[in-house]
Amino acid sequence: MFLVRLIYVSTVVQPFSENDIQQILTAAQTHNTRLNVTGMLCFNTEYFLQCLEGSRESVNELYKKILKDPRHQNIYLLKYEELHQRKFANWAMGYVPKVKLTEAVNLKYSCCREFTPMEMSGESCLNMMLELAETVPTI
Ligand SMILES: Cc1cc2nc3c(=O)[nH]c(=O)nc-3n(C[C@H](O)[C@H](O)[C@H](O)COP(=O)(O)O)c2cc1C
Repeated sequence: MFLVRLIYVSTVVQPFSENDIQQILTAAQTHNTRLNVTGMLCFNTEYFLQCLEGSRESVNELYKKILKDPRHQNIYLLKYEELHQRKFANWAMGYVPKVKLTEAVNLKYSCCREFTPMEMSGESCLNMMLELAETVPTI
């Protein structure tokens, strides 16, 4: 079984609190550790942008569960690729909050200063998360 990376974007259904995010991160820490899935989750109150890395079987299993989650909608797959090695090996699920999605970072990887992952390529999203990962604590 070989490694894959999956990146998707989605929008929130209802306003999300810090507590709601913590619930997702707690579930991610438990399940992703068990599945040996690693990755990164960005959230700016409107959009989720998530990267999942792991075995094809585990990433697909988790993605199917995430697709059914009623807390988000408009889920678009941006990237799915086979890997030689992980880029986010140190994070069961690293969290990038709104405060880190600065105008400078958005402008570097997209056409505008706002966080608009729906209008970004999968490659731009990956590179943005790689830059942001340098400032995210490992979990
Ligand atoms: C944007 C988003 C990202 C999520 N990411 C993960 C994840 O990385 N790992 C995970 O186990 N659950 C994740 N979830 C939650 C799952 O959809 C699901 O609710 C959870 O895994 C169920 O956990 P439980 O079986 O312990 O109730 C995410 C949910 C949302 C809305």
